[in-house]
This record gives sequence, C-alpha cells and structure tokens, in this order.
Amino acid sequence: MTNGQRSSWGSGSTFLIPIAFLLLAVVLFLVPSDFHSPAPEATVVPDWASDTTPVRQPSLTPHFTTTAATYECIECHNLFKSPPETERKLTQHSNIDLQHGTNTRCFNCHHSQNRNTFVNESGNSIDYGSPQLLCQKCHGLVYRDWQNGVHGRSGGFWLASAGETSRLICTECHDPHHPPFAPMLAAPRPNTIRTDSPLQQSDHQIAGNPLHRLQPQHLSEEPAVKNQMKTTEEEKGK
Ligand code: HEC
Ligand code: HEC
Ligand code: HEC
Ligand code: HEC
Repeated sequence: MTNGQRSSWGSGSTFLIPIAFLLLAVVLFLVPSDFHSPAPEATVVPDWASDTTPVRQPSLTPHFTTTAATYECIECHNLFKSPPETERKLTQHSNIDLQHGTNTRCFNCHHSQNRNTFVNESGNSIDYGSPQLLCQKCHGLVYRDWQNGVHGRSGGFWLASAGETSRLICTECHDPHHPPFAPMLAAPRPNTIRTDSPLQQSDHQIAGNPLHRLQPQHLSEEPAVKNQMKTTEEEKGK
C-alpha cells in the first residue's frame, strides 16, 4: 500500500468509522448475546469456618470440682499416697477415658508426689499453667514447630515491633486425655476459574484424616486413607 492510496481512502471515508461503531453498539444492544462467565459463583465462607474461638478452654490451675465443692488437687492427694499404677479401675475421675496411644500411664504426665503439677523427664514438677512444656517432653518436633508458628494457630502481630504474637497452647486445641481430633468439616475451597467441578466435600471429609493414626476404624472404613498413610510413610522413609 502506498502513501497516496492511504491518504485518499482516509480523507474520503473516516467519518464512516464512528457510524459503524454506533451501528454495532445498537445491534449489540438489541440482540444481547447469551454470555455465561466460565467462573462459578464465588464461594461464601460460612461463619463457622472463620470462627477463632479456641475449641477448648483448659483449666490452667490445679483445681478439681466435685458435686460438693472445688478443691486443689493436693487437698485430696496429700491425704493418701497413690498406690503404684495398676490396671485397677479408679474410684475417682472415672469420667476420664485415657486414649493417648501407647501413652497409657497417668504418671507419665501427672506428678505422682505433687498432684498440683505435671512431671518432666527427670521427675521434677512442671507448672500446671504450662502444659505445653509437658507435651514437649514427648512431642519435641511438634513443640518446635509450634514455637516457630508452624503448628497450631497464631494471632496478633507478625511484626514484633507492632505488638505481641499470640499463640494458642496445646491444650486449647487437644484434649490431653484424648488428643486426636474427630474428623472436622473443612471450609469450602475457593471457586476460581481453574477449579472446575468443585467438590461438595473436601478430600479430608471424604477420606478422613491421615493423621488419625489412633483411630484405626477410619483406616478400615476408607481405603483412600491407607494410600495417603502409605505416602506419608514413604516420605518419612526418604
Ligand atoms: C475430691 C478428692 C480429689 C481431688 C480434689 C482430686 N483427686 Fe485425683 N484422685 C482422687 C481419688 C480418690 C483417686 C483414686 C484413687 C484410687 O482409686 O485408688 C484419684 C486418682 C487420681 C489419679 C490416678 C493415679 C492415682 O493417684 O491413683 C490422678 C492422675 C489424679 N487423681 C489426678 C488428679 C488431679 C490432676 C487433680 C486436680 C486437677 C485431682 N486428681 C484432684 C481424689 C481426688
Ligand atoms: C498426656 C498427659 C496426661 C495423661 C497421660 C493424663 N493426664 Fe490428666 N491431665 C493432663 C493435663 C495437661 C491436664 C490439664 C487440664 C486440661 O487441659 O484439660 C489434665 C487434667 C486432669 C484432671 C483435672 C481435670 C479433669 O479432666 O477432671 C484430672 C482429674 C486428671 N487429669 C486425671 C488423670 C488420670 C486419672 C489419668 C490416668 C488415667 C490422667 N489424668 C492421664 C495430662 C494428662
Ligand atoms: C509421656 C509421653 C507423652 C506426653 C507427655 C504427651 N504425649 Fe501425646 N502421644 C504420646 C504417644 C506415645 C502417642 C502415640 C503415638 C502413636 O501411637 O503414633 C501420642 C499421640 C498424640 C497425638 C495423636 C497423634 C496422632 O498421630 O494422631 C496427639 C495430638 C498428642 N499426642 C498430643 C499431645 C499433647 C497436646 C500433649 C500435652 C498435653 C501430649 N501429647 C503429651 C506420648 C506423649
Ligand atoms: C490451634 C490448634 C492447635 C494447637 C494450638 C496445637 N495443635 Fe496439635 N494439632 C492440631 C490439629 C488440627 C492437628 C491435626 C488433626 C489431628 O490429627 O488430630 C494436630 C496434630 C497434632 C499431632 C499429630 C500429628 C503430628 O504432626 O505428629 C501432635 C502430636 C500434636 N498436634 C501435638 C501438639 C502439641 C505438642 C502442641 C503444643 C506445643 C499442639 N499440638 C498445639 C491443632 C493444634
């Protein structure tokens, strides 16, 4: 195309261009195309999924409430010497159903002489208000993760100069006598354009939780869990 051609075409018909656009706009307005966005509706995050209330409110003081009154643990336990542990049924605290894997002894955690405290690896007391130091005795790696904010939940500020970081302690989530969680409902995942056919249930819900090693009934019910367990085991082997 030469310069001469372009200018002669341009000078004569440029006024047609806006008219063409105008016509197009009118046509589009009168005949709306049935456009459907490929992105599904945005997921609504339900209130329960963002609720930050801790699942437990552990007592951090050594008190025990009977139907009659509230006592300190040592008020009773200093009156009588605990017998060496046996398989006997307890005459008190019968509500406690200890299911903590192979950790089956009360005195692995509670101090046998000073019942107001927990016991550390050298037989000394751990303050009743710091149960995380008790858990640390056997779950050192998880404790380290927790200290670094990888395990459990952090709140407050990331920036130390802006304010304090808060961290839930172990027993605000885990029941020390029955630490694994029951399978939890997962929050719905985001509906983006890439997550076609959104599942109604998350994989967790369908398969149970691979971390629930202490609840073997999940394993027998759901073969999917077995596969996940195997992967975890293989990863550990590496
Ligand atoms: C009202 C009295 C009373 C209070 C208060 C009390 N206990 Fe006990 N506790 C008992 C009795 C009774 C037994 C059972 C002894 C038996 O059956 O041989 C027992 C048993 C136990 C055992 C099992 C080992 C053992 O000593 O036989 C543990 C662990 C224990 N108590 C922890 C606690 C803790 C922790 C507290 C405080 C949070 C507490 N107890 C408060 C009365 C009490
Ligand atoms: C893994 C450690 C651990 C073991 C094992 C353990 N406890 Fe506890 N126990 C705790 C902790 C931590 C608390 C603090 C309260 C809480 O977080 O609920 C507690 C609280 C208690 C309490 C007071 C609160 C309540 O639930 O009544 C009693 C009583 C008690 N334990 C008795 C026992 C007895 C009896 C056994 C053995 C059958 C036992 N515990 C085994 C860690 C343990
Ligand atoms: C005396 C050692 C000991 C102490 C103290 C102890 N645990 Fe455990 N814990 C164990 C053992 C052993 C298991 C079973 C591990 C297994 O069977 O794979 C276990 C299992 C668990 C599990 C379940 C792991 C799973 O695979 O599902 C959790 C959660 C847990 N403990 C949390 C705690 C918390 C929280 C505390 C502190 C309150 C605590 N433990 C204190 C020994 C301990
Ligand atoms: C904010 C809640 C929360 C806090 C705080 C928390 N955990 Fe957990 N923990 C969980 C959840 C959720 C799981 C996974 C679910 C399950 O397997 O039961 C888990 C899993 C575990 C497991 C088994 C899986 C593994 O990684 O070995 C252990 C052991 C454990 N926690 C110990 C601890 C200890 C020790 C602390 C404190 C130092 C702690 N947790 C603090 C929520 C918490």
